Amino acid sequence: MSHSTTAQGTTAQAHPNIALIKYWGKSDTLVNLPSAPSLSITLDTLVTETTVSTASGQNDEVWLDGEKTIDLKIAGWLVDLRHRFDVPMLEIHSTNNFPTASGLASSASGFAALITAINAHCELGLDNNQCSIWARRASASAARSMQGDWATLAGPHWHVNSIEADWPLRVVVAITDPTRKAVASSVGMAQSKDTSPYYPAWVETTTQDFDAATKHIAAHDFAGLAALAEHSCLKMHGLMLSTQPGLLYWKPATLALIHAIRELRADGVPVFFTVDAGPQVKAICLPEAAATVEQKLASIEGVQQTLNVGLGPGAHLVDP
Ligand code: DP6
Repeated sequence: MSHSTTAQGTTAQAHPNIALIKYWGKSDTLVNLPSAPSLSITLDTLVTETTVSTASGQNDEVWLDGEKTIDLKIAGWLVDLRHRFDVPMLEIHSTNNFPTASGLASSASGFAALITAINAHCELGLDNNQCSIWARRASASAARSMQGDWATLAGPHWHVNSIEADWPLRVVVAITDPTRKAVASSVGMAQSKDTSPYYPAWVETTTQDFDAATKHIAAHDFAGLAALAEHSCLKMHGLMLSTQPGLLYWKPATLALIHAIRELRADGVPVFFTVDAGPQVKAICLPEAAATVEQKLASIEGVQQTLNVGLGPGAHLVDP
């Protein structure tokens, strides 16, 4: 691991992941335990690259996409990490090649890359599993970006596991609005838990959805997975809408995309949608359908950009 650690710092990359069985709600906010299991695919060409070096001054310095930032989530997480490990003041430079905090899982890839770089730079000696636990403490979805391809985050231990699916699906991401989301996921989740009458049903049924999804994946049952993933997505957005005040992350183009994807499927194209805490739509499809899906989504009014990506690796160090 130390081959990537130089005087200039240690660099790691991680990729966002897209949940097909969604996580929305915590049973513990101290170490960030989800209330229900989730299941995701990690993407390839979208990437966060993070370089960590020992700071020359008395404080941590955090640079996100070239701008010096005070990030309270990173700061609080570093305090926790220093309770357990001897970590010097750090200079952190992190860049995303996709819009930050707009429902494209930048905190997932961000914290997966960060713990991977810190682990090597500070020689913490954590294995992938332990890194996933530290990533989860920052952002539960970040634990899943420690793993490539198909990942699960499930109890009782709440660290990441992989599913050996050998099923190379493609994802067409339709970006409708690249600006930052209005309500951060962790804030929205707490509001849903506190105020939505649907929350207990969401937690209970998500565990069943998770078990069923793993069976569809093992059988490469695309139609079964499509129905279940859309159900999990719409159920999460139903929970969000029933929160007080209501959480509405969609834009008109989000809804137009959902209809377009359902029309494609009705015409026999193997594709389904999912949407996270933002207005972008991710269309998951079999590889042979990706070009058709991308062409259709790009034609929808309000779509600013489409990205056609495959499944990618877990967080890893890169040579400087
Ligand atoms: C809608 O992992 O960002 O993308 O643990 O509070 O940081 P925190 O939340 P986060 O939430 C992701 C929510 C989601 C669904 C998912 O990725 O499972």
